[in-house]
Amino acid sequence: MHKKIIVGNWKMNPSSEKEAKVLFRLFSKMFPNKNKNTDVVVCPPFVYIPLAKKELKKSLILGSQTIGPEEKGAYTGEVSSSMLVDLGVRYVIIGHSERRMLGETDSILNKKIKLSLSKGVTPILCVGERDRDATHSYFAFIKEQLEQGLLGINKKSLKDIIIAYEPVWAIGKDALRQATPEECQEIVIYIKKVISEFFNIKNITDIRVLYGGSVDEKNAEIFLKNGGVDGLLVGRASLEPSAFKKIIGK
Ligand code: PGA
Repeated sequence: MHKKIIVGNWKMNPSSEKEAKVLFRLFSKMFPNKNKNTDVVVCPPFVYIPLAKKELKKSLILGSQTIGPEEKGAYTGEVSSSMLVDLGVRYVIIGHSERRMLGETDSILNKKIKLSLSKGVTPILCVGERDRDATHSYFAFIKEQLEQGLLGINKKSLKDIIIAYEPVWAIGKDALRQATPEECQEIVIYIKKVISEFFNIKNITDIRVLYGGSVDEKNAEIFLKNGGVDGLLVGRASLEPSAFKKIIGK
């Protein structure tokens, strides 16, 4: 059994430093100490990471929403994994569907996974179909994302990588509908099967999988219980301290 992990993806929120300070204060009140049973990770926008480190370091683990594709040089607008390690970042979300939409390809993501592993930062690789068609082609789609994203990675590193299943149709306020825990569990089993075949490994318990997509305080427990996952990747609800606390549980 892995330790449960709950990741909050704050995306491009909050919208000012002033709001960030208010939010961080609320979080530090709500989470005075580290949770013994769960690794709780928050991923604020880059610019608020130093502030988050100051306010939340005692109670929460810091993550980032992406990293640059190289370590240094002429890469305008990018932030390297070393810079993030310096700021105390220990997890990084790689290949969120909102980043893939901006043109991040599987091979870019593969590079980012290797970079973060080399710096001791845990990559959280997001995979998931845009929609579910009657011919079930989403299975092949997810397989491709996994195999391309993990290409050339040493199988010993699999225990240091987290996969997040995020069906795009279930994400955000415009989601088509919520996924069911059964749909989640089916894909989690499939993800483990694809990875174990691709790497030719027997011990699929090494592979940690999260679920993300409209997770809130009402459905979190049922996904954790029946979704076959080791934790959750939470968007909107992670910006509300009381909802996030309920999602984390005891
Ligand atoms: P949501 O976002 O929880 O707001 O649906 C999840 C995600 O995009 O990771």
